[in-house]
Amino acid sequence: MCQNWYLNPTPQIVILDAGGQYCHLEARKVRDLGVYSAVFPSETPAAEIAFAKGIIISGGPNSVYDPGSPQVDPAIFGTGQPVLGICYGQQLMAHVLGGEVTRGEKGEYGLATLELDDTGDPLFGGLAGRQQIWMSHRDVVGALPEGFSVAGRTDTCAVAAIAAPRRKLYGLQFHPEVVHTVRGIEFFSNFVFRVCGCVKDWDPRHRVPAVVREIRERAGTHNVFFFVSGGVDSTVAFTLCKQALGPDRVRGVYVDTGLMREGETDVVRQMEGLVVEHAERQFLGALEDVSDPEQKRHIIGEEFVRVQERVIESLRLLDESWILGQGTIYPDTIESGGTAKAAVIKTHHNRVAGIQKLIESGRIVEPLTSFYKDEVREIGRELGLPSRLLDRHPFPGPGLAIRCLCSAIDAPVSSTAEGTVIPVNSVGVQGDSRSYAQVLAIGCLDHARATDLINRLRGVNRVVASVDLKAPIGAMRVRASSMTPARLGRLRCADAIVRRLCEETDYDRHIWQFPVILIPLGTAEAPDSIVLRPVESVDGMTAQSVLMPQELLGQISSAILQVDGIAGVFYDLTHKPPGTIEWE
Ligand code: XMP
Repeated sequence: MCQNWYLNPTPQIVILDAGGQYCHLEARKVRDLGVYSAVFPSETPAAEIAFAKGIIISGGPNSVYDPGSPQVDPAIFGTGQPVLGICYGQQLMAHVLGGEVTRGEKGEYGLATLELDDTGDPLFGGLAGRQQIWMSHRDVVGALPEGFSVAGRTDTCAVAAIAAPRRKLYGLQFHPEVVHTVRGIEFFSNFVFRVCGCVKDWDPRHRVPAVVREIRERAGTHNVFFFVSGGVDSTVAFTLCKQALGPDRVRGVYVDTGLMREGETDVVRQMEGLVVEHAERQFLGALEDVSDPEQKRHIIGEEFVRVQERVIESLRLLDESWILGQGTIYPDTIESGGTAKAAVIKTHHNRVAGIQKLIESGRIVEPLTSFYKDEVREIGRELGLPSRLLDRHPFPGPGLAIRCLCSAIDAPVSSTAEGTVIPVNSVGVQGDSRSYAQVLAIGCLDHARATDLINRLRGVNRVVASVDLKAPIGAMRVRASSMTPARLGRLRCADAIVRRLCEETDYDRHIWQFPVILIPLGTAEAPDSIVLRPVESVDGMTAQSVLMPQELLGQISSAILQVDGIAGVFYDLTHKPPGTIEWE
């Protein structure tokens, strides 16, 4: 685990990370109850977490029989500390304690109904009866370890909840941490308060004075510089440092790549202590005639490094008087098994050598490494930052570049029995690997049909519905095109329309993210089209395409069709997997 240098309380609940993103959702649920929890590697020796009032073994993608699957120190089950195993955690607990885990044939994914007995155990207090839960597992516990009994089951899973109350050991096969488990938070609350006897000790807003103190200690007499992206994390970290050290000792640099959304640079420009480095021409020049998504990311990363080097040089930021500030948040500090081993679907980062040296020599201040995103938002509110900034949807580092699709070739669309194939490639994720394939356009907003088509058709990894077109789709073609200012302008304009209407109707609060994509499909007069992609998600790892209100969709599409050069509006029906959220 990363050593936080801020003075946090000792975690009352330790989450043992058995892989995947589940552990963070679980830690967040516990913190939402006002109890400080932290994530530790699954194999952490029992003696090193003896301070905890309770332990949760997280879910994870493995089977206990997989070679190299996450393990725990068996001694944790004999300390008298309460242990709750969730999904894989339940299976691992059963396996280690002498029960039997059976390999499932098919698995069970999605909603299920739990029948929970009235056992009188504190974990299940007030929860007996039938309720909706969310399952995601292949293996099941076949035989229980000694001293355990079954407390709950579903139609397809005989061992959905287990307990050995005298030893304070519990297991849940389902996921109480996901929203689809309707009473999930009550399971956490029972575990944390009734079983473990925790007391409330955590409110991120109350941490501000301690964080400010720590920034002062850490910075000493140094000044702090940030590369600010305009996103939540770097802005909150920057503001905290200004509060701690005074505005004169903190400098923010914002690089305008020319790939920003409408009005974005203006908002950032209003922040005190910030300089804008203009590099629009440099980025657009380097991206001319490039259409491969990974090449785009690579070029943007390289240009970013160049600009940063230039800024560092001109402001002499590597002088002894400066240290680097960063908005790193808690999940970024932990390499969980799941993320460390994941296949590269999309690459994300490049780093300047000078900055790398600062990090290695410890000349860095990261005030947010204890906090989750929602907690960073709370801190931002405490600091008085506007909710327009704090509640904004995630926006990718490479900006509009990965939403402005280009084509190396001219090609006609082709009509098939199922719909029209658009010869534009987009990225997807299948199993754990990357796909790069064409798009199918159909005539209706039908998710079930889209899912069925993606599963059946080869060479297609995404399905869109046509919403409103200026010409029949058969009369359109894909044109060779690159990322020109005119095309970026169209995209920026459509994106601004979507943002404005979603804000006005509050629709943005109902979804996780709403990418707007430009594709080079159209007619001679109007060469491009727009794809709308509203999604629901918890963490971006998986996502559901969602249907937006018909009236709002009508308003958005008719406004977008007014934009010069736009021939049509489409709606992405693809979930993740098999699509990714962004098209590139
Ligand atoms: P995908 O498209 O992989 O996106 O399903 C998952 C989340 O990551 C964001 N994203 C990026 N963020 N640099 C970033 O900083 C990138 O290159 C990048 N690509 C995708 C995306 O917006 C979504 O929230």
